[in-house]
Amino acid sequence: MILPVVSHGNSVLKKPTSSITKKDESLERIIDDMFETMYAAPGVGLAATQVGLSINLFVIDASDYSEDDPELEGFKKVFINAEILEEEGEEWLFNEGCLSFPGIREDISRKPRILMRYLDENMQEHEEWFDGIKARIIQHEYDHTRGIVFIDRMKPLKRNLLQGKLNDIKKGNVKASYKMSFAPKKKKTFIK
Ligand code: NI
Repeated sequence: MILPVVSHGNSVLKKPTSSITKKDESLERIIDDMFETMYAAPGVGLAATQVGLSINLFVIDASDYSEDDPELEGFKKVFINAEILEEEGEEWLFNEGCLSFPGIREDISRKPRILMRYLDENMQEHEEWFDGIKARIIQHEYDHTRGIVFIDRMKPLKRNLLQGKLNDIKKGNVKASYKMSFAPKKKKTFIK
């Protein structure tokens, strides 16, 4: 089932997530729905927070970048309770977008190599190095599990320039090619 993607302005995106303790049918369904949601949108990764679930889970499929690097064809993975153990190398810029921020893309600086510990969809533990675009997608999604979004990684000046667009996303004044869920409108309170 395709789920609506939660937009910037929703508090679930800013909260650290809870660990997942067991695999059950509902977890399997969530993972399936997240892949379906991601494939229905122009995304190479999706975190559970982006479908409104504050749990430590994200999915990625880097195949869209296989023209840049054939090794990325079919690079599809599930990360549960992921931790970045090490990050190394000279920071590099890569143009990132996020399904929760339709219409915004920006060059973000991150390190190129990471050592991850995570559980896969069968709750098997792995410790594995990733680099380049793989690492980049994982770092972006991993941030979501910590309540961090990519605008938090922008220089304040760049973020200020985007303020108008960000406000429009918060208000739902934005078009996306996929189903979205915008932040609830604030109720007006009147003082009598
Ligand atoms: Ni994102």
